[in-house]
Amino acid sequence: MPTPLRSAHWFSGQSRDGFIHRSWMRGYPSDLFDGRPVIGICNTWSELTPCNAHLRQIADRVKSGVYEAGGFPLEFPVMSLGETNLRPTAMLFRNLASMDVEESIRGNPIDGVVLLCGCDKTTPSLLMGAASCDVPALVVSGGPMLSGHFQGQQIGSGTAVWQMSEDVRAGKMRLQDFMEAETCMSRSAGHCMTMGTASTMASMVEALGMGLPHNAAIPAVDSRRYVLAHQAGRRIVEMVREDLRISKILTRKNFENAIRVNAAIGGSTNAVIHLIALAGRVGVPLHLDDFDRLGHHLPLLVNLQPSGKFLMEDFYYAGGIPAVVRELGDLIHRDALTVNGKTMGENTADAACWNRDVIHMLAEPLRENAGIAVLRGNLAPNGAVIKPSAATPKLLKHRGRAVVFESIEDFKARADLPDLDIDERCVMVLKGAGPCGYPGMPELGNLPIPPKLLTRGITDVVRISDGRMSGTAYGTVVLHISPESAIGGPLALVENGDDIELDVEARRLDLCVSDDVLSRRRAAWKPAPPAGTGGYQRLYVDHVMQADQGADLDFLVGCRGAAVPRESH
Ligand code: FES
Repeated sequence: MPTPLRSAHWFSGQSRDGFIHRSWMRGYPSDLFDGRPVIGICNTWSELTPCNAHLRQIADRVKSGVYEAGGFPLEFPVMSLGETNLRPTAMLFRNLASMDVEESIRGNPIDGVVLLCGCDKTTPSLLMGAASCDVPALVVSGGPMLSGHFQGQQIGSGTAVWQMSEDVRAGKMRLQDFMEAETCMSRSAGHCMTMGTASTMASMVEALGMGLPHNAAIPAVDSRRYVLAHQAGRRIVEMVREDLRISKILTRKNFENAIRVNAAIGGSTNAVIHLIALAGRVGVPLHLDDFDRLGHHLPLLVNLQPSGKFLMEDFYYAGGIPAVVRELGDLIHRDALTVNGKTMGENTADAACWNRDVIHMLAEPLRENAGIAVLRGNLAPNGAVIKPSAATPKLLKHRGRAVVFESIEDFKARADLPDLDIDERCVMVLKGAGPCGYPGMPELGNLPIPPKLLTRGITDVVRISDGRMSGTAYGTVVLHISPESAIGGPLALVENGDDIELDVEARRLDLCVSDDVLSRRRAAWKPAPPAGTGGYQRLYVDHVMQADQGADLDFLVGCRGAAVPRESH
C-alpha cells in the first residue's frame, strides 16, 4: 500500500473537513480528488513584471503535461518581483517573496510544484521558498527575449543601456538615437537576453539540476520553450511518485557544478548571493570563498554580453548550457542528480556545440581565470567580490585616490559637476548601498563614469561599494563589501583623498590609512538613522544578514519541511 500523498490529508475521506476542502474547489470532476498527485504551479506572472508577463501561457502548457501524466494541476500566484519597476530595489523583497512561496506551498494541498520564474529575483525567491518546504520541485524559466536590433547592430538588455547612456553623456550619441534604441531593445516576451542576472539564474537552475536540459537559453517565444513546459508538467508528476524532493537534488555537488558553470558563462555576481542564500535553506555548507576556490581559475567559455559579444538567442543555437557542461568535462560532477532523474553527465553526454565563436573550447577559451574573485583586506574583512571577465585588465592591480560619495543621492548631485575633483587614477567609493543601508542592497555599484572623464575618452575607473550591480553591467567594479558601511564596516571610514589599493591577483582590497587614524575615525563615526521605520522594511533591516552570508533573513535560514499538523476548521 503506497503512502498517501500530503494532498490526501485535505482531499480524502468523508469527514466534514474533506467535504469543505473538496466542495469549494469548483468545476473539477470528483475523480481528480482520488489521491492523484496535486501539482502546484507557482506563477510569478504580473504585468508589472514585464519579463514574466507570458507565464500564464507557459502555465497552460505545464497543466497539459500534468493532466497527461495523471496529476491534478492547480496554478497559484505569488509575489512577483520586476527588476525594472520595483523601488527601492527588487532585492529588498526577494526574502519576502520566498516567504510567500514557502507558506503558499506548505499551507496548501500540494504534492509537488513547478516554479515559473524569469526576471532576476523571481528565480531565487521561488527556489528558496520551495527549498524550505522540501517538496518535489522543478523550475521552468520564462526564457530570454529575442535579440535586440538597432541600426544594424545587436543590442543587449541592460548592457546596451549602460553603454549608450554613457555615449550620450560623452557627446558621442544623439539623444534622439538613444530614444529610438529604447523601442528596439525589448522585442518579445521574456527576460533580459544578455548574460545578466536572469539568464545567469536560469543557467544556475540548469546547472543545479533543478530544470530540464536547455531550460536556460530557449527563447521565451520559441515553440521549444512551450515543449519544455509541457514536458516539465509530465515530469513533476513522476517526481512526486518517485519522492524526488529538492533536498535530493540540491546537494553540495550540484552547488559546486553551479559555481563552475557560472564561471564559464561569465555569470552575474548576483549568483553568489542567491546561491549562498539557497544553500542556507537546504543546509548545504557554501561559503563565499568557495566561489573563488572552485571558480576563479576557470576560463570564460561563453562569449555573451556583458563579458563578450553575443546574446542568449545565439547561445541557445550554439548548444546552450549542455554544451558548456560537456566542454567542462571532469570539472563538473557528472554524477550529480537532476530533476529528470538522470545525472548531469547523462544529460550532457551527447551535447553538441554548433558555434565555437559563441561557446569556446576549454583549450581555447575567451579569457583565462575569469571566474568571480573574492577579495579581502582591511576594507572588506568579511569579503567583497569582483567579476574580472567584465573588468579592464590593467585596472585589476591599481592604487588610487578615493573620491567618496556618502550616498547615491550625493553621487547624483555631484557626479556631473565640472569641478568634481577626479581623474582616471581615482577610485570611486559609494557608501550606503548595502542590505541595511539602502535598504535592500540595490544595483548601484556600477556608478556611471563622470562626464569629466568620459569626454576625455576614459570609460572605466575602479569603483567600490557595499551594493550590487546588474548582471548586465560591466567595468572594474568591486561589490558586496562586507560588513557594509551602514553598520560600521570599514567602508564607512573612507574619506576623500585616502589611497585605496586593489590587487585582484593577491585578492586584496585595502585602505592605505594607518590603524591609528582609522581608530580615531571609528570613535567619531555615528550610524545614520535606520532606513526603514516600520512594516516589512523594519523586519528586513532588523534581520537581514550581510552579503557574504547571502543576505537572507536570519530566521528564514534552513528547511522547515512541508508538514502542517493542524486543520483549519
Ligand atoms: Fe527582468 Fe532583466 S529586467 S530580467
